Amino acid sequence: MYTRIDGKEVSASVRNAITEKVNDLKAKGVTPGLAVIIVGNDPASRVYVNNKKKGCEQTGMNSFEYALPEETTTEELISLIEKLNGEKDVHGILCQLPVPKHIDEEKVLNTISPDKDVDAFHPVNCGKVMTGDYTFAPCTPAGMVEMLKYYNIPVAGKHCVIIGRSNIVGKPMAMLMLKENATVTVCHSRTENLAEITKQADILVAAVGRPKFVTADMVKDGAVVLDVGINRMEDGKLCGDVDFDAVCEKTSYITPVPGGVGPMTITMLLKNTLAAAENTF
Ligand code: GUN
Repeated sequence: MYTRIDGKEVSASVRNAITEKVNDLKAKGVTPGLAVIIVGNDPASRVYVNNKKKGCEQTGMNSFEYALPEETTTEELISLIEKLNGEKDVHGILCQLPVPKHIDEEKVLNTISPDKDVDAFHPVNCGKVMTGDYTFAPCTPAGMVEMLKYYNIPVAGKHCVIIGRSNIVGKPMAMLMLKENATVTVCHSRTENLAEITKQADILVAAVGRPKFVTADMVKDGAVVLDVGINRMEDGKLCGDVDFDAVCEKTSYITPVPGGVGPMTITMLLKNTLAAAENTF
């Protein structure tokens, strides 16, 4: 018997706590505000941005959308961010990724003031995540830690194996799990004997970007499996990086896709926006 980790339930619980704190801030005359920049017409990005705005509404925060045309230049985008850096009502700024290819993404992300960088993508905030002393937790990894806490899943001393070394998920997840006193292994596309390593995991994090990549033979009996993948199949359905039906019976806890890690990410962004607003006092 395994437990299906319900990301919507955890997310609702965290959002309730955020809403209460937003109300406290409003009573002091400050409404947390998130500026969301979207460049171009990527349909998936549009859905994410709409959900971020909805999340702000739901928790009582302000959201400010800046929808820019595909042909926006790096300089134009930077000058918008510089303006937002100076605006009192804007506590958090995010630029939805990916940006069009002609835009210098690194330069853009580095322009966001570290104090308003609610995605925690700025090198200053990445560095703080490394030291374990940070205001803004990287959203997707932080969402997973929140889920483990909600289900009282022990982490200290456990072996957490992460498949994927991206700057947004794999690397920061390693840092957050170290902070929780896990023993951490990071695997990636060049890892040899991958299944031998993943089979040692008490907590297995799949952040590969390949549908049903994690199969039953890669999972230890009783493991906790967290699936970061969101892959669109030919039939239009969403599918994770884990072969859920084949793996679930071996696990103690597992996240489904959809309805697992996904719903947590925007909630953690809202939590960071609240933290940014609280930091202005
Ligand atoms: N695109 C996909 N995920 C994210 C995210 O977490 N933040 C931003 N800004 N863009 C994304």
